[in-house]
Amino acid sequence: MSTSPLIETFQQAGQGQVFAFWEGLSPEEQENLLAQAGEIDLAEIAELKRTLLDKDASAALDLEGLEPAPYEPLPEHGGDAAAWSEARERGEEALRAGRVAAFTVAGGQGTRLGYDGPKGTFPVTPVTKKSLFQVFAEKIRAAGERYDQPLHWFIMTSHQNHEATESFFQKHDYFGLSSERVHFFRQGRMPAVDFEGKILLESKGSIALSPDGHGGSLRALGRSGALELMEKEGIDTISYFQVDNPLVRCIDPAFIGWHIGRGSEMSSKMLPKAYAEEKLGHFCTQNGHLVVVEYSDLPMELQRQTDANGKLRFIAGSIAIHLLDRDFASRMAAGGDLPFHRADKKIPTVDASGNPLKPEAPNGIKFEMFVFDALPFAHNPLVIETRRADDFSPVKNAEGADSPQTSRDDQLRQFARWANAAGANVAVDESGLPAVTFEMSPLFGDDEASFAASWGRLEPKPVIGDGLVLE
Ligand code: UTP
Repeated sequence: MSTSPLIETFQQAGQGQVFAFWEGLSPEEQENLLAQAGEIDLAEIAELKRTLLDKDASAALDLEGLEPAPYEPLPEHGGDAAAWSEARERGEEALRAGRVAAFTVAGGQGTRLGYDGPKGTFPVTPVTKKSLFQVFAEKIRAAGERYDQPLHWFIMTSHQNHEATESFFQKHDYFGLSSERVHFFRQGRMPAVDFEGKILLESKGSIALSPDGHGGSLRALGRSGALELMEKEGIDTISYFQVDNPLVRCIDPAFIGWHIGRGSEMSSKMLPKAYAEEKLGHFCTQNGHLVVVEYSDLPMELQRQTDANGKLRFIAGSIAIHLLDRDFASRMAAGGDLPFHRADKKIPTVDASGNPLKPEAPNGIKFEMFVFDALPFAHNPLVIETRRADDFSPVKNAEGADSPQTSRDDQLRQFARWANAAGANVAVDESGLPAVTFEMSPLFGDDEASFAASWGRLEPKPVIGDGLVLE
């Protein structure tokens, strides 16, 4: 056995099985295995064994002092219209001053969608089948043009999809953005372990590593140098969104204005849950902190609780849209405060002789961090309400709810709404879905007002019919 110090360290930590097939590996395979092992923080794994494996993993959430979180309602739900328009102006000022960057987390595995390739390359618009990445790129470009200040866009990838993501952007010429303002970096990985906390091999010469969750974005922002670059560029506000939601307002001036005006270190958008069982995390407060409690953790009787007016008490659903203060992100990146969550999974591995093993039942654990777990660490955290129709229709599943079909229909409803508000006559059904399939680029209009302005300039006005594309 070679005497690489790393191998000895693993042996001393009780993780020597990682090198069980070392002698039979080629020099290249050995090098690769050592590099993977070098990524692993053994003290962290030992700590996770102690906190997530040894204690009762099914321990219920501590409900002591858990209350629904306050949030800033929209004007149509009782919010202060003047404060909303002030927030918008403040946000626009920040955008003109170049203080804001867009940030997409695009490192997930997209298992539910079952699409072969980075999820951001998934074709999503109704007519031209633009990719998710192109939709975001055009929204970011539109904001840059409107505020006369091109934005930087940071994209977190995984080891698995990094190259494919970069080459997709190269192939499409960065969708009209300057390549100097689009920054890719990989998220971290965590090893999977068996139920005894032993690190699992994926094959004789490689460790079962998987992305460390969207919460890994905070560490990755720090490690990659992205936060340093932001500082150099005068960016102090990071607009965080997921790769799977084509409706998201990547850059939302009112949200930015609320966040800055309140001196918040981390702000989030909420939607009133459509029904008690809707699978969204819940914004809550506990011991003076803002927290998100996952739908699987909040007892159903609390999810169904209503107030005197029959409104759900725990109504504020999280849709994974956040703003982060740059200094706060730096603090979180350095501090290692985010907890890991365990997920019991079927993890392909090898048996004692090194033969591939495809388990039929969960045989181990993956560790992931969640970005919303940063909220309790933020000063003055803030939650504001948003409209579902303008911000949220993710592509998660191949079929059914939150699928390409529902997301396409929601895009069409938005297009029809904006067109009708501008005086076009688009027939829609009772759900707002138009009978015709058309499309508009965010560069033509990315909200009701900008659509109306572009539409007003169009002469002659086209007939809105099947296949029309407004760019
Ligand atoms: P999801 O929780 O929907 O996971 O990610 P997923 O991996 O994309 O899909 P499934 O669960 O395998 O079907 C929400 C967002 O967080 C990002 C995803 O890319 C998506 O934008 N994410 C998730 C990461 O960037 N890294 C991760 O490790 C996990």
